[in-house]
Amino acid sequence: MCGIVGYTGKRKAAGVLLHGLSMLEYRGYDSAGLAVLGEDGQIRMEKATGKLYHLDKKTEHGERLPGRSGIGHTRWATHGEPNEKNAHPHVSGEWKQGAGNFTDSDVIGVHNGIIENQTELREKLLRHGYTFYSDTDTEVAVKLVDYYLKKYQIGPIDAINRMMVRVRGSYALVLMFRDRPGEIYAARKDSPMIIGVADGETFLASDVPAILDYTRTVYYIDNYQAARILPGEVHFFDLNGDEISLSPVTISWEPKAAEKNGYEHFMMKEICEQPDALRNTLTHYLKDGELDFSQAGLDSGLLGGIRSVCIAACGSAWHAGVAARYAIEELAELPVRVELASEFRYRKLLLSPKDLLIVISQSGETADTLEALRIAKRKGIPTLAIVNVQGSGIAREADHVLYTLAGPEIAVATTKAFSCQLLLMYALAVQLAYVRNKIEKERYLYYVHELRHLPDKAADCISAKEKVQRLAAKLAGANDVFFIGRGADYAVSLEGSLKLKEISYIHSEAYAAGELKHGTISLIEKGTPVIGILTQSSVSEKTLSNMFECKARGASLLAVVSGEALSDGGAALKEEDDASEWRWIRVPEADELFAGLLAVIPLQLLGYYTSVSRGLDVDKPRNLAKSVTVE
Ligand code: F6R
Repeated sequence: MCGIVGYTGKRKAAGVLLHGLSMLEYRGYDSAGLAVLGEDGQIRMEKATGKLYHLDKKTEHGERLPGRSGIGHTRWATHGEPNEKNAHPHVSGEWKQGAGNFTDSDVIGVHNGIIENQTELREKLLRHGYTFYSDTDTEVAVKLVDYYLKKYQIGPIDAINRMMVRVRGSYALVLMFRDRPGEIYAARKDSPMIIGVADGETFLASDVPAILDYTRTVYYIDNYQAARILPGEVHFFDLNGDEISLSPVTISWEPKAAEKNGYEHFMMKEICEQPDALRNTLTHYLKDGELDFSQAGLDSGLLGGIRSVCIAACGSAWHAGVAARYAIEELAELPVRVELASEFRYRKLLLSPKDLLIVISQSGETADTLEALRIAKRKGIPTLAIVNVQGSGIAREADHVLYTLAGPEIAVATTKAFSCQLLLMYALAVQLAYVRNKIEKERYLYYVHELRHLPDKAADCISAKEKVQRLAAKLAGANDVFFIGRGADYAVSLEGSLKLKEISYIHSEAYAAGELKHGTISLIEKGTPVIGILTQSSVSEKTLSNMFECKARGASLLAVVSGEALSDGGAALKEEDDASEWRWIRVPEADELFAGLLAVIPLQLLGYYTSVSRGLDVDKPRNLAKSVTVE
């Protein structure tokens, strides 16, 4: 959601901050702002609504804000509408629009997260003579720090600690103090923040890509910890104000991994990176030709003793869970529940320490998924996280972590992280089956072999993209689209439908194919596109019949077919291939348990090309944020 950056060092801070914010644009935002402390002791700030280039223009590429330390923010509105008044940074004093960009406030801050008791705190501060110019909870937090600073005549760390004790909610709060030139202060609870150190300069950001061009040595600050940041050094403090020592971590991502590298959009780049991402992910967990999850502490003792699996995730990651359920149940014969993490906390938790909770998350910061993990941990249930972002909250809190090695994913709509999640879940299903003696060694090695071939087959799916591009041109004018499938194909339908709607803004729904007749079929009109996923031979003929039922009511059909999933129906399909309203896409043959990973690729491409042909912002669709760090 919001993006935070901070810098102190030898460079012109505003340029570094603007660059950092541009690398965080993918997180989603509707206004942006900067504050820089100049060598003349003046703090200058500027804010702008809309895209970052407005701020860039207003500050003349940062030149109007001279100074070597500063903070910046892109805001995704939660409290208060997206206007300049509500944009960050916020100040402890008064803010006047266009007042020469100077602020005489003592404390200035940017914040991600939500302060839940902001109304109560606002009233308290009003009683003590503070006035408010914005609707934001951030202004409350900044003024609260100022209040403690002055009331108790204490330093920034002590004032921040008092603030942390008093507020409820989540925050990554980054502050500058007028009387502390060159210093930045930070505090965190349940909102991501990293601090990167290089020679003579220090960077702060809510997300890795913002600092990747400058350093890969980072510190992860934990809940209820504060930091004092100086050029080239950082000091950490606990809630008592005692200095603590944290160890730096080296980020494995290459700086150029977060760049477009000649692609028009990040989404297409990330779709095309899937074969490598899949290969890297699988290879990481292969040893002597067998799967090996022992580095994550998942040995056969643990995997063999599980009674059932519960998967919790949001959005596409939840779809990966739905798809994985079929593979785990089929191979390992374990009962699997798949829960929306956003609903998890409202259900009675009928899990025991003999069960395993798996959370799936690209960002590792999705608030609801993190909360599901915490609920399970509080009940003593073993937890496993499938995560892409190293050092993220979920990765740090789960008992066991399997990393997808997809690299940074910048496009809001997930593609490569999703397919890597799916691959790891398939691999886990195979391993569970083997250690639980549900499959013989020979079968086990066959499945491992099948998994190893998925990256090359994914590359074949991508190389057929021109055909999908032609089909997308037809889809671009649709009002409603339906995706249908049975079994594992239903999971693919869910993901295909989300990919289309989130970036093309065309209404689409995914249905288990057998459900259409129970209501939805009344929505089919002449020309309504119905996309059937046909990778499962045991049910494909049935799905095909459901597609023909739609065709009889005017639908235009598109089939995504894998290998020999259709026998007789396949012949019928072939005959229809050239008919004007009938189109199909074939993906390479794979074991049916894993075919969903391939079938989803043309659907990613379909969403992408449909969005492009509608002239939309593919990488940053409206209203969406890359990581959803609030409930
Ligand atoms: C859709 C998409 C989202 C995410 C969801 C969970 O393309 O990307 O639905 O899958 O917001 O995010 P993570 O995986 O970061 O927990």
